[in-house]
Amino acid sequence: MRVLGIETSCDDTGIALYDSEDGLLAHRLFSQIELHLDYGGVVPELASRDHIRKALPLIRRVMQEANTTPEQIHGIAYTIGPGLAGALLVGAALGRSLSYAWHVPAVGVHHMEGHLLSPWLSPDPPAFPFIALLVSGGHTLLADVQALGRYSILGESVDDAVGEAFDKTAKLLGLGYPGGPAIARAALGGNPQRFSFPRPMTERRKTHGAHPGLDFSFSGLKTAVVTAVQNQTLMPPLIADIAASFEAAAVDVLAIKCEWALEQTGAKQLVVAGGVSANLKLRERLKQLSEKLGVRVYFPRPEFSTDNGAMIAYVGYLRLAADQSEPLSIGARARWSIEEIGVLKT
Ligand code: KG4
Ligand code: ZN
Repeated sequence: MRVLGIETSCDDTGIALYDSEDGLLAHRLFSQIELHLDYGGVVPELASRDHIRKALPLIRRVMQEANTTPEQIHGIAYTIGPGLAGALLVGAALGRSLSYAWHVPAVGVHHMEGHLLSPWLSPDPPAFPFIALLVSGGHTLLADVQALGRYSILGESVDDAVGEAFDKTAKLLGLGYPGGPAIARAALGGNPQRFSFPRPMTERRKTHGAHPGLDFSFSGLKTAVVTAVQNQTLMPPLIADIAASFEAAAVDVLAIKCEWALEQTGAKQLVVAGGVSANLKLRERLKQLSEKLGVRVYFPRPEFSTDNGAMIAYVGYLRLAADQSEPLSIGARARWSIEEIGVLKT
């Protein structure tokens, strides 16, 4: 089965072709970074309009690269949510229309399920069950993954997502957008111990509840950075030290919560996915943790950590292969919990 994947939930137009026999045939990404650069963040209306401009040419290109004609495509997968409503609707309208024109089924994919299963685009992926840490610009959560579509949230952010904290801190430091890679770059020359930023919700380990202490909070960390930069002239050495200290605090929080989740559940595998999983300090730290605990940790290929069409094509293939498809209507779910995705019929 050959599936065309369309990702337009935020500021990346991602297109891919996945084949059940031959794996990923081709994939392309158009990043809107330059378009939003002057605004310091994603402008939803501009994002939607640019997806309209870029998606079809990218689809043509990917099909050419994979030497694939419409007759060879068995289904279409598009991100149906969560994300920016207008941007999602572009992908949904396009995916649904192509499916109608080509007489093939279309399926709407949950963006975070795409991230969750992105390690399957690499050799030697994990087997169910496992624990997943999903870290992106809009989500920070730990989930107990029992089967495809059966996800229980163990903990999530009560305020900002960790990617959002990276983005806001980068903006504050004048490092531009997107903040994650910019902070990581600036932090390379910095001293992570110069500022002892807080590690919110890790100080006291709660003992009650089913999965105590697995929620996250990042707004306090961001506020601590605001305080640190007050009345300071932002020169490169100071910026590097703040970036390094911030990154160390964010990585610490994520690693501590993973350790608690692994201990509480006894799980032996950890999947880490979503844009922030591209962070090398986080990868290093979680590899150390996994060695200490005797657990295996899985990351996507760095290019599939951040948004891409390949993960959507892959999840779409799994769902279409299980006979799941959308009715003949165009819709999007801007807000949608991973617990509501639904298990596949097998
Ligand atoms: O998954 P993603 O591409 O889009 C969403 O679904 O949100 O994640 C984007 C987020 C942004 O907040 C970005 O700053 C962050 O991932 N990010 C990183 C790195 N690369 C991207 N954060 C830390 N370190 C990185 N290397
Ligand atoms: Zn994403």
